[in-house]
Amino acid sequence: MSKPSILVVGTGYVGLTCAACFANQGFKVTGLDIDEAKVDLLSSGTSPIFEPGLDELLTAGLESGLLEFTTSSEAASTADVVFLCLPTPPLPTGTPDISILRSAIVQYRESLKSGAAVVTKSTVPLGTSKDVAAWLDRDDVHLVSNPEFLREGSAIHDFLNPDRVVVGSLNHDAALVVQSLYDGLPGERILCDPLSAELIKYAANAFLATKLSFVNELARICDEVGGDVDAVTHGIGTDHRIADSFLTPGPGWGGSCFPKDVAGLAALARSSRLRVPVIESAVESNRDHFDHVITQIRKHVGKPLQGANVAMWGIAFKAGTDDTRSSPALDIAERLAAEQCQVRAADPVAKVDGNLFTQMDMYDACDAADLLVIATEWNEFRDADLAQVAARLGQPTILDLRGIISSEAAAEHGLTVHALGRPH
Ligand SMILES: NC(=O)c1ccc[n+]([C@@H]2O[C@H](COP(=O)([O-])OP(=O)(O)OC[C@H]3O[C@@H](n4cnc5c(N)ncnc54)[C@H](O)[C@@H]3O)[C@@H](O)[C@H]2O)c1
Repeated sequence: MSKPSILVVGTGYVGLTCAACFANQGFKVTGLDIDEAKVDLLSSGTSPIFEPGLDELLTAGLESGLLEFTTSSEAASTADVVFLCLPTPPLPTGTPDISILRSAIVQYRESLKSGAAVVTKSTVPLGTSKDVAAWLDRDDVHLVSNPEFLREGSAIHDFLNPDRVVVGSLNHDAALVVQSLYDGLPGERILCDPLSAELIKYAANAFLATKLSFVNELARICDEVGGDVDAVTHGIGTDHRIADSFLTPGPGWGGSCFPKDVAGLAALARSSRLRVPVIESAVESNRDHFDHVITQIRKHVGKPLQGANVAMWGIAFKAGTDDTRSSPALDIAERLAAEQCQVRAADPVAKVDGNLFTQMDMYDACDAADLLVIATEWNEFRDADLAQVAARLGQPTILDLRGIISSEAAAEHGLTVHALGRPH
């Protein structure tokens, strides 16, 4: 039997990874996007986003003829499986906006081949599969929910090495077709109903965000009353019920998924008049944590923020990506700018337009700065030339929000490193 052909609608961080990885697995894949410039770039073998390993897969896919890109909805007419990888940004209420999904379905539904499986990979509010069925209004196509768990910065690895593949559908045959696309990959298979599949995605992100809020609270406790958060997290992480990942304090969680997904789950509960204090508090705690970070910056700058000069290393919301959506670094920069503190920022790949800060080389950003704040855990910062940092800074002080600089190594150059929850 020939392999199912795949159409991926939306070639952003998720869709492009999905398209390149399925082509790498030997499937014929077409990536469909409304953004003509993006499709031109992709067709020429250039990735519009930074993601380790993506360029290689893109080139290999195009050269093998298994991967192509288009703006034409005609591509829907030949695909056996259609993945919807479209944005679902939050509305002001926190509820995810599914209007892009709706307009795309309405745009492409006529072209769909009879018997095709339409698969939602976007993160969507619970029950969206019913909306999708209504918008499609086609008895001869089958709906599947297949949420995506990849992490930007290791998206290719995560897609090709999933912990689990979740497939939710009321149509068993369609579920098996979608599940079969992952046959060459490891991980558990979880077959369930579409609503449970949608909830698994929200539950995973809400749990992880809650874990981060918790560990950031531990860091704040250590900053206030003493103790070493690294010893504490090691002490609890050895308990297999807790597990040792996601136990590192940071500047507060952000990115394109956690804030929107936690807000989306909380908004869903509110609309059902359901109290979900744990989920709500994870958000509140994260907000408090940003306040704590600003307090720490104020303390280590050692003078009024107005007119002070802060160097910030890291703009992306995490290392390994150019994605700055809801980046903690931007939140911090915004708060500093609001107090007329001058921020000079550096990032190996991420760029931001606007006048929140001046962007420059990582060492130039340190020139005469009152404080260096490390907001993103890039290796370029981890392996920084500390002698040069010491020579450039106005005050020899680093606030390492990611805990990546050795205070002993820094001390050799006369630098003092403060990290969240660590004694100094
Ligand atoms: N980014 C992540 O790490 C991640 C991880 C898991 C799940 N998700 C979810 O996946 C979904 C997509 O996220 P993303 O980060 O890839 O978004 P993105 O903004 O990077 O990409 C979306 C793409 O869809 C295209 N698009 C918009 N309307 C279209 C239309 N009508 N037809 C064709 N293409 C259209 C855009 O041009 C863009 O290229 C979201 O629901 C998100 O929550 C994201």
